[in-house]
Order: sequence, then C-alpha cells, then structure tokens
Amino acid sequence: MRRDIIIDTDPGQDDAVAILLALASPELNVLGLTCVAGNVPLERTSYNARQVCELARRSDLPVFAGCDRPMARGLVTAEYVHGDSGLDGAPLPEPVMPVQSTHAVDFIIDTLRAAAPKTITLCPLGPLTNIATALQRAPDIAERIAQVVLRGGAYFEVGNITPAAEFNIYVDPEAAQLVFGSGVDLVVAPLDVTHKALTSPEWSATLRGKNHPICEVVAGWTEFFERFDTEKYGSKGAPLHDPCVIAYLIAPEIFAGRRVNVEIETHSELTRGMTVADWWGVTDRPANALFLGSIDAAKYFNLITNRLAQL
Ligand code: BDR
Ligand code: CA
Repeated sequence: MRRDIIIDTDPGQDDAVAILLALASPELNVLGLTCVAGNVPLERTSYNARQVCELARRSDLPVFAGCDRPMARGLVTAEYVHGDSGLDGAPLPEPVMPVQSTHAVDFIIDTLRAAAPKTITLCPLGPLTNIATALQRAPDIAERIAQVVLRGGAYFEVGNITPAAEFNIYVDPEAAQLVFGSGVDLVVAPLDVTHKALTSPEWSATLRGKNHPICEVVAGWTEFFERFDTEKYGSKGAPLHDPCVIAYLIAPEIFAGRRVNVEIETHSELTRGMTVADWWGVTDRPANALFLGSIDAAKYFNLITNRLAQL
C-alpha cells in the first residue's frame, strides 16, 4: 500500500531533491507540499516548490504557502548556502501553476482530520513552524498523525549554523520544542546522518551520464550548493540532507539509530536550538524520538540516482 505523506519544505536544493525522490517513488503518495520560510523567505520557497513540481511534470500537485516567520523570533535565512533564489545552480522557468489559496497550516489540519487516523505521515524538511502551528491550533491532530519523519538537529555533529545548533531547529526552536513534546511518533534525521551522506564529483558525473533532464538539473544544483560545505568542512562533497527523510520512508533498512529522549534548548542564546539527545541514556527522561545516527551512503545515492532517472 502507498504511504500518504505531506512534505513540509523550504526549498533549498536538497529539499528539491527530496521532493523529486518522493515523486519518483511508487511507495509514496504525496498529498501536497506545504511551504515554510527557512532557507529563503516564504515567497521564494513557495515559488521554488512550484518550479520543482513543474520540473517533475506534476503541476497537479497542490502547493500551499504557510508561516512566513518563526513562532517567536525573526526569520534567519541561508542564501549564503543556497544562493539568492534558494535553488541556484540550474535555472528553471517561472512556474505557471498557482499557490493554493488555503493556508498550509489549514491544509495540514483539514487533511489530517478528514483522513482515517494514523494514515498520514508528515515530512518536515525545514524549520518546524508550520507543523508546530498546526499542533498548537488543533491539538486533536497529534493522535491522527501516523508519524513525523523530520530533517533537523544534531548530536555528535553538534551544529552547522552555530557551534551548538543545526539550521532547521535553530531557526524556530520554539516550534521544535512543541513538536518534540507533542507525543507524536517521531523519526529524526540529524546532521549525524546527513554528514555521512556526502555528494561527490563521481555522483555528479553519474547523474550527468544519465542524459536525463532532471538528473542534469540535480547535478547543477549539487555542484552549486556543495561549494559552500566543501570549503567549510574540507570535504570532497556536501551533505545531501533532506532526501534522507524520503529515503528513510522507502528504505529504512539503510539507516540505523536509537530511540532516545531529545529536548530542545530555547533559552540560552549561546546554545539556542541545540537538540539535546540522551544518546547514552544518562537521564530518566522518556524516549520521544528515533534519532538516526548512520546511513549506508552508497545505497542512498544509488537509490536517488535510479529513482530520479525514472522520472
Ligand atoms: C540544511 O538542512 C536542510 O533542511 C536545509 O535545506 C539546509 O540546507 C541545514 O541544516
Ligand atoms: Ca530544507
């Protein structure tokens, strides 16, 4: 049976690859894309999401615009990584399909309430503002969600936007705190996983060798965004973060992790947005998430390449 999912996203080249991977995967039924402010402002993430749908010839897929800023703070963006457009690296035509008139948060709430309980999985790939706002406004949806499989946080890798915090959680820590405290079945793909899923010149060459228009675009995006991380980390490639969420849904066996307690730092300016994961079980705080820690990177990149080439 196909799994119904909603992708909550702030594209972002890696978000875009995640969306394409989901659309290429018969195991998944994407009900809609809900956009949030993150890598770039909301107007641009909802524009980019439509460009990605049209690239995949899926202009029928509804795209919703959601929250344009974090719950309690000003927006922090990451154009220095993703470029001014958020999708620099492979120019795409202006999208023709519209943004839906319904707010993303209303779409999430209404869709969960209309469906049988525990049949819809939420896949947040950016700051958790839309998901947390939905849970705050409609607490009844918590027990209707099948699972939240999210991209965010870090424990052993600690931080990427500050020494202590990962970008998605840092941008809206109050939203993250609400989601991690909501009691929903949570799977977390932190930097501990994504920093083991590095792009490479060989992968770009494989993509280009497919002679497939979508693989060409993905190679262009990759070559653009990896320049920042290769310089920062001194590595040959960059973490391809967000497709980990979709890959986990399709092939969970290529990941390993632990069910642990994860709390979010919201008070300290120094460690704002830190995901304090009790990996070693040194507290009696109850587990609230499956925190992934490793990935078979070769299988991950093969999965993405093979699926994209079928789009
Ligand atoms: C990164 O994680 C992804 O969700 C974003 O697109 C961003 O590139 C930040 O940790
Ligand atoms: Ca993202």
